[in-house]
Amino acid sequence: MVFGVILAGGIGSRMGNVEKPKQFLKIGNKPIIVHTIEKFLVHDEFEKLIVLCPKQWIEHTKNLIKKYLGDGGSQVVVLEGGTTRNETIMNSIKYVEENYGLEDDTLLVTHDSVRPFLTYRIIDENIKYGLKYGAVDTVIAATDTIVSSVDGESITTVPDRAQMYQGQTPQTFNAKKLKELYYSLTEEEKEILTDASKIFVIKGEKVHLVQGEVFNTKITYPYDLRVAESLLQDGSNER
Ligand code: CTP
Repeated sequence: MVFGVILAGGIGSRMGNVEKPKQFLKIGNKPIIVHTIEKFLVHDEFEKLIVLCPKQWIEHTKNLIKKYLGDGGSQVVVLEGGTTRNETIMNSIKYVEENYGLEDDTLLVTHDSVRPFLTYRIIDENIKYGLKYGAVDTVIAATDTIVSSVDGESITTVPDRAQMYQGQTPQTFNAKKLKELYYSLTEEEKEILTDASKIFVIKGEKVHLVQGEVFNTKITYPYDLRVAESLLQDGSNER
């Protein structure tokens, strides 16, 4: 079984002093999170779409789904997120385990609620390679040279740009494996995690790459909101 897991458990602090977490702000005529859910609903491989948000926003999220998605919304369940992004993912695993059981091929396509421009192809390849390899990350080749600095004051190293990629989402995982690896991490290892793919990397497991899209951006700062608005008007993300 394949599950879509839409991560909306954050509060969007870098968006500044806005009245609600960024996933609930509108671009075009709909909240960002609704655009994102719609991209998943057009796929028929998903058993269920699991949306996870802060507890106090669960009711609001359910109402949005009712208002904008009508009958399509019946495929969506809204749950409470966790204190970290990975804990949010773990909450989705708990739900799947309790309601469907974890089979050897249970797959989670996890996606940032604030990346509304992903495409059908990206989801398709995540599922295909997720079933084949058990772990998939969506990336684009780095266009800027990446410099690494340990102290933030001077360069430590300049890695070969040809080997550098920027991580996007979806990230797709075999649910059983992800759970097993996550709970085998030490607290120190958990501290240094920025995303879920790193759980596999730390444990020496292979993560297959899927080509993302430049426009599959994450809405983080107010600037990104303006970019998202123009992408939407322009329609260049509709593939
Ligand atoms: N996320 C989540 N659970 C958390 C933290 C983050 O599901 N405990 C989700 C966010 O809602 C977002 C995605 O992970 O869709 C990417 O995270 P990020 O852009 O960092 O979102 P926020 O944590 O909301 O933003 P900020 O770091 O600015 O507070």
